[in-house]
Order: sequence, then C-alpha cells, then structure tokens
Amino acid sequence: MSASRSILLIIGGGIAAYKCLELIRRLKDRGIASRCILTKAGAEFVTPLAVSSLAGERCFTELFSLTDEADIGHIALSRSTDLIVVAPATADLIAKMATGLANDLASTALLATDKRILIAPAMNPRMWQHPATRRNMAQLEKDGVLVVGPNAGAMAERGESGPGRMAEPPEIIAAIELALAGEVTPPQRAIGFLGRLPGASGANGALAGRHVLVTSGPTHEAIDPVRYIANRSSGKQGHAIAAAAAAAGARVTLVSGPVSLPDPDGVETIHVESAREMLATVEAALPADIAIFTAAVADWRAADAAPEKMKKDGGALPPLALVENPDILATIAQRRAGRPALVVGFAAETENVIAYAQAKLARKGCDLIVANDVGGTGVMGGDANTVHLVTRDKVESWPTLAKQEVADRLIAHLVQLAAPVGV
Ligand code: CTP
Repeated sequence: MSASRSILLIIGGGIAAYKCLELIRRLKDRGIASRCILTKAGAEFVTPLAVSSLAGERCFTELFSLTDEADIGHIALSRSTDLIVVAPATADLIAKMATGLANDLASTALLATDKRILIAPAMNPRMWQHPATRRNMAQLEKDGVLVVGPNAGAMAERGESGPGRMAEPPEIIAAIELALAGEVTPPQRAIGFLGRLPGASGANGALAGRHVLVTSGPTHEAIDPVRYIANRSSGKQGHAIAAAAAAAGARVTLVSGPVSLPDPDGVETIHVESAREMLATVEAALPADIAIFTAAVADWRAADAAPEKMKKDGGALPPLALVENPDILATIAQRRAGRPALVVGFAAETENVIAYAQAKLARKGCDLIVANDVGGTGVMGGDANTVHLVTRDKVESWPTLAKQEVADRLIAHLVQLAAPVGV
C-alpha cells in the first residue's frame, strides 16, 4: 500500500523506545509512513539501523549534519509531515517542549513545526507525578499538544508500579488516526481509544469528574481480641483497580480490609477490619458513579466475639457459633435510591466458573461480574489472574494477565460502559 499520510516520529530515550519499532511497522500496514528522528538517548535503546530498516528511509539523528541540511533541513523535516508524534515522550523531552528549548534535532524540529503534535509520555511514576512534570504537562496541554497515555502498571524497574507506562502501539495508532482525521482538537486529549486507560494527570482522563468506589482485601472477623476469621486475599487486584481508576482521572475511594500493600497514590484509602465496618464505610462513601466490589468479604463472623482472650480450659473445645455477614455488593446493587450507575462484583470460583457467575449476577443484582478462576494455585496472593466478564447477555473471556493489566483493561471496559458525565 502506498503511504499517502505521514508522521514525523521522534523517538526519545526510554525503555519503551523498543515499542516504536512495532509502531512504525503497524503504521506502515495502515498506509501511514514514518520519518524518524532518534534522540541521542533514544539511540541507547534502539539503533538507527533498526529504525531506518522498518521505516524504509534513513533515520535522522544530528542537528548539524551538512547532508541533512542540504537534503531537507530541520525546518523542512518538521513541516513536511501531517503530524509529529513523540514516543516515548520522556520527562526531559516534555520539559524541553514546555520551555521551548531547542538544543538538538528533536527539540528544534518540535519548536520549528507548524503541525500538530501528539505525545506518548513514558517515565517512572514518581517522575510523572513530580510537580515539575505536572507543570510541564499542564503547559503542553494549554499549548494544544495532544497526549496519549501513559498507562498505569508495572515499570521496568523492579517493584515499581503506577502511572508512567507508555501507551501500547494500538492505542498510539488510534490516537494518530484521530489526530490525522482532525477528530481531536486541543485542549481535548487524544485519549479513550480502544478502551485504553487515559492519562494519569486526572483532570482530563476519561473518568474525570466521576467517583469510583472500590473494596479490596479480606475482612477480619474477630473471635476474641487476638483471634479472627480471615481468608487468603492479598488485595492486589482491588488496589490495582483503584490505582487504574485514579489514573483514568476518577476520584477514587478505596475501602480496604487488612492488607500489607501501600495505599495507592492519588486514592483516598479507608482502612477497615470487618465486613460490617466495610459496609458502613461503603455506604458513607456514596454517592458513587461506579462501585467495584473486589473484596473477599468473610461470609461469616462469630456470633458472639469474646470480649477477652479465650483461654483453654484443658477439656472442652470452645463453641464457635457463626452468623452470616451482610452482603455488601448485594446491599448496594439493590439500593432503590443512590445506587451507583455501574455496580461490579467479583466471583472467585473453583468450578462451573461462568454458570456460577451468571447466577451470582442475577442473585446480587449487579451489572457485571468479573469471574476469576481460583481453581489453580497462585491466584489468591499471586500476581496474575484469569477472568471472564459476565453480563446478562454476554461472556467475555480474557487470557491470563497480570493483575495490573486486568485492572487497566477493566477500567477501560467500564469507561466504555459508563454514560458520559452529565447524562
Ligand atoms: N461480597 C460482598 N459482601 C459479602 C460477600 C461477598 O460484597 N458479604 C462481594 C464480593 O466482594 C464479590 C462478590 O460479592 O464482589 C462475590 O463474592 P463471593 O464470595 O465469590 O460470593 P458469595 O456471595 O460469597 O457466594 P459463594 O460463597 O456461594 O460463592
């Protein structure tokens, strides 16, 4: 296919630079040619040869190259294109753009262009959340720069997670298509494609203006002051969902049972112990637009928790009478007044996963059940999850994914289901 549309792709210096190779190839498949500038830092992650091989023409790296100036020149380079795309847009490139610095080929082209610019930020979550980056991003959005991502998730750095992962190539392509078609105009952000997770800056995300309520973790039901009934829930899935909703711009209230996880950034986290405390806290946190019940609430509690530590008396075992806990999901889903527009439950099953989830959906009155197969070992407390999205008329099965990935996709899915603000 001959390319009638073209972009100038500026590849910055970040680990996500490798995704640009796939981006170039996929764009070519869609008839969009990429002319590329590789920054000095970008060349530490991908080689000019790899970029030029895929793009089908040489990749530009130097500002002061006589051949380039004679052949095309940096001004022409920045204008003989339909759109400039910066991916990965590092904190450094964003800062240069925000202040108008022009000390290398990439920043000079960005300053000299008369075309629209789309950036795909990628950096460590702390760098993304730093006040300097926040300021620079606000400036860029004011300047009419389009933004896709970043997504929240695990970072290349061990143990780090949060907003800062570059949007995936299909998301960037969707953003490019919309920008080329003129369908997104500043200050609108080029976000919300293919169910992607919008940017973490909050104010402009697809869930901006929404209140999302999430329950997470186990509950502890006291038997006496030192003993309790509990389960193996780690809270990882619920906490990841809360973080993903915050990254999509929502105001998030996370009601968490006892877990050993840090409170997610940008999320109001309320810590509770028992199911009854969790229900009271959830009710107090309403109204909400979306409520996601991820907590593994203990089904039963001791009928009479002993006020003092129970002692062995050398003979008879203590009686342990149980009573059922309130069902928080069902209580909220069946509210007549103030029911959140979208109520999502989870169902941990070991067999007949979909059939049980469908029955649970009807019984509890929620809009969607995320059924997870906990039959194998390692789901409770592990980092991966295999889920099926069950609604009244549909079942959508996802492959085994990291819990953060499940969270990102679920929030993107809910963005599609949620009515626009004000509707
Ligand atoms: N849930 C809740 N309050 C409870 C029990 C469950 O809010 N007291 C919610 C969970 O957060 C989850 C969903 O209900 O979203 C399903 O929980 P699960 O324990 O799998 O289902 P149960 O209703 O307990 O049914 P069963 O134990 O028979 O599978």
